[in-house]
Amino acid sequence: DAPKPLQGKRAIVTSGPTHEPIDPVRYIANRSSGRQGHAIAAALAKLGADVTLVSGPVTIADPDGVATVHVESAREMLAAVEKALPADIAVMVAAVADWRAADSAMQKMKKKPGEAPPPLLLAENPDILKSIGHHQSRPALVVGFAAETSNVEAYARDKLSRKGADLIVANDVSKAGVMGGARNAVTLVTKDGAETWPDLDKTEVAARLAAWIAGSLSGAPAAV
Ligand code: C5P
Repeated sequence: DAPKPLQGKRAIVTSGPTHEPIDPVRYIANRSSGRQGHAIAAALAKLGADVTLVSGPVTIADPDGVATVHVESAREMLAAVEKALPADIAVMVAAVADWRAADSAMQKMKKKPGEAPPPLLLAENPDILKSIGHHQSRPALVVGFAAETSNVEAYARDKLSRKGADLIVANDVSKAGVMGGARNAVTLVTKDGAETWPDLDKTEVAARLAAWIAGSLSGAPAAV
């Protein structure tokens, strides 16, 4: 049998995009496929962790051996994550919408001939990583992601302290095919340093990250 260094540990992983309703048929969304988050949930389970995956709307299958909770909006995702506490590990991979429609219409908004388009007013969504990073039942290890298009490491370092995370996995989403694609090139940023991994399949990034997490919880000096 494969070694199970995360046996007895509970993990919460968020994955995918969120959908923020504008009216019953329209929503705000993004290009996240859920591939990276789902792969991380599966990789943690493979190392023996008891994993709850909180997934936004995706077209990929629920991973085997993981309890998957399906949500739509950021506010639903936060509620599901808080419900899954306490945990030892939180890995917030979801591409949560920063903004939602300030008030979503109960009825489909109708286009009327000759009328100007309606304004789309936005309200700020809760920051799930930040609230878990500062939570009264904060998991021992809190991991966030940073999808940036420039200054990747600098933004990640800022995010580390602001959001109360122990590790930020930063990736450059300006590279073709990262968002929604099968491969990812990441830089791991902790308070102690940074380490860049080569371009890898998202399942390989997930396996390495799960091993990094197991090492970090066992008190072994992490590579970063
Ligand atoms: O601030 P930014 O969106 O770049 O932060 C990315 C990290 O924060 C990711 O780990 C993402 O899952 C998390 N996040 C969140 N809730 C939000 C926005 C981001 O959990 N509303």
